Amino acid sequence: MIPINYQKYPFIAKIRHHVSSNNYLPINELNLLPENYPTPIKEINWNEVFINRKKANILDVGCGKGVFLISYALENPRDNILGIEIRTEAVDWINGVVNGEHIENCKALYYTVANGLPFVEENSIDKVFYLFPDPWPKRRHFRRRVFSINFLDEIYRVLKPDGKLYIATDVDYVNDFHIKTLNSFGKFSLKQNINAEEWNFPTTNKENFCIKKNIHIFKLICNKLNI
Ligand SMILES: C[S@@+](CC[C@H](N)C(=O)[O-])C[C@H]1O[C@@H](n2cnc3c(N)ncnc32)[C@H](O)[C@@H]1O
Repeated sequence: MIPINYQKYPFIAKIRHHVSSNNYLPINELNLLPENYPTPIKEINWNEVFINRKKANILDVGCGKGVFLISYALENPRDNILGIEIRTEAVDWINGVVNGEHIENCKALYYTVANGLPFVEENSIDKVFYLFPDPWPKRRHFRRRVFSINFLDEIYRVLKPDGKLYIATDVDYVNDFHIKTLNSFGKFSLKQNINAEEWNFPTTNKENFCIKKNIHIFKLICNKLNI
């Protein structure tokens, strides 16, 4: 596998840390739809998404600048990985690399996961990655977090019977919040203290930062329980 020369793909637009606060909320909680709100997607024509025209079987929710997404696609040519991201500049940049390098099994979608995943068929996904979500530490911003019982309901629905949800964060209270929410949802078994064999994946942009700064990373593997 020839590594990508990312210097060929300079960032044209500055990638903001966050977008308008309403974009993190579901459409049914908004009185007025902001102009730049990501279009809610009910159905998708997979023929038009990936160059290989197959369906997604892996999701990367909040794929950010996409280093993990692209590396995963290159390392796993038999999988089709869809990144979902609310920052349009990051989506455009990733898709510029995907098209420039003709990566057949990778795509980023501009969308807010706050509106669920209605365009993803049930029992169709092998792995969902939810890696280093924005922590939103202030109580008044908790509504902006993607992780909730509704989100888990959607992940449960789209995962195949033996599907897995992979979660990572460097923030202890976010990890506690994930575990608490997963326990009250009750339809996943949880594994903590993950070894390298169980988590044999490329690193993300944020993970690379944590490794460099020696920041502890909390990882969870959640197996769908067929109940
Ligand atoms: C801290 S970044 C981590 C990015 C990447 N996973 C990584 O590990 O480097 C969290 C990402 O989630 C995205 N995000 C937050 N809320 C989202 C939502 N409702 N829908 C889609 N993406 C969202 C953010 O824009 C951001 O890119």
